[in-house]
Amino acid sequence: MRSLQRTVIFGATSAIAHATARRLVAAGASVHCIARNGARLDTLLQDLRVRAGAEGPYIGGECADLDDYDLHAGLLARADAALGGIDAVLVAHGCLPDQQACAASVPLMLAQWTTNGGSAMAILALAANLLQPRGQGVLAAIGSVAGDRGRQSNYMYGTAKGALAIYLQGLRHRLAPHGVAVLTIKPGFVDTPMTAGLDKGGPLWASADTVAAGIVSAMRRGQAQAYLPGFWRYIMLAIRLTPDAVFHRTRL
Ligand SMILES: NC(=O)c1ccc[n+]([C@@H]2O[C@H](COP(=O)([O-])OP(=O)(O)OC[C@H]3O[C@@H](n4cnc5c(N)ncnc54)[C@H](OP(=O)(O)O)[C@@H]3O)[C@@H](O)[C@H]2O)c1
Repeated sequence: MRSLQRTVIFGATSAIAHATARRLVAAGASVHCIARNGARLDTLLQDLRVRAGAEGPYIGGECADLDDYDLHAGLLARADAALGGIDAVLVAHGCLPDQQACAASVPLMLAQWTTNGGSAMAILALAANLLQPRGQGVLAAIGSVAGDRGRQSNYMYGTAKGALAIYLQGLRHRLAPHGVAVLTIKPGFVDTPMTAGLDKGGPLWASADTVAAGIVSAMRRGQAQAYLPGFWRYIMLAIRLTPDAVFHRTRL
């Protein structure tokens, strides 16, 4: 089992990350939270500190817009110092862009790429270089089932998440001999603020806490990949294997 005792979370105010942080703190871990919105970060830190208790582990963090690549090295160095070393990194931030708006605007397409793809990869690049010489640790990032096959309804988002998954695959290959586990997290439909505009009826929807439980378990086990909930592995297998001639008749 991998230690998650000192974990830094990027995009910590995300509903999935918040639920994950609660589970880590409940297990006695120190957590360093990095988030864009200062007021929401304060609320998150208060919540975690109350749960940790007065004698509990370190809970801290700082504000940053993670689209700003120049901030990443300092954020990681300060997290490392605050935690007294990093056991695990979770990259959770992301946005669900309007596909049609992105298709009509290259600047919008590239902006969501920065948030969902480029910035996550940049943070992971620095974290990999930090952990590799230490010979241990866990790097995890939240991708999406949307990255498994390009679909007309969300291929901009899917492209970024798919690229992130390939990137993580490469990092995993590179870091395996050095004792660092690299996890690709692929949630399906999760009831969070990101999906506020969607119809949430039906059995495919999961809560942030259900997904958080899967994230913590997969990080501890040093897994390579986690579809969450697990049934998405089979749904996405079917979607990937569907021939174009059939797939192009759907409006997925
Ligand atoms: N919900 C789903 O169905 C679903 C499915 C598959 C994958 N995911 C992925 O799961 C992750 C967490 O999303 P969620 O569902 O928990 O949604 P969420 O609650 O809306 O969280 C998204 C978070 O990303 C942060 N963020 C966005 N851009 C940022 C930036 N430039 N710098 C720093 N933080 C930034 C947001 O911060 P602000 O508060 O400042 O906006 C927010 O805290 C994302 O990577 C998402 O793509 C979600």
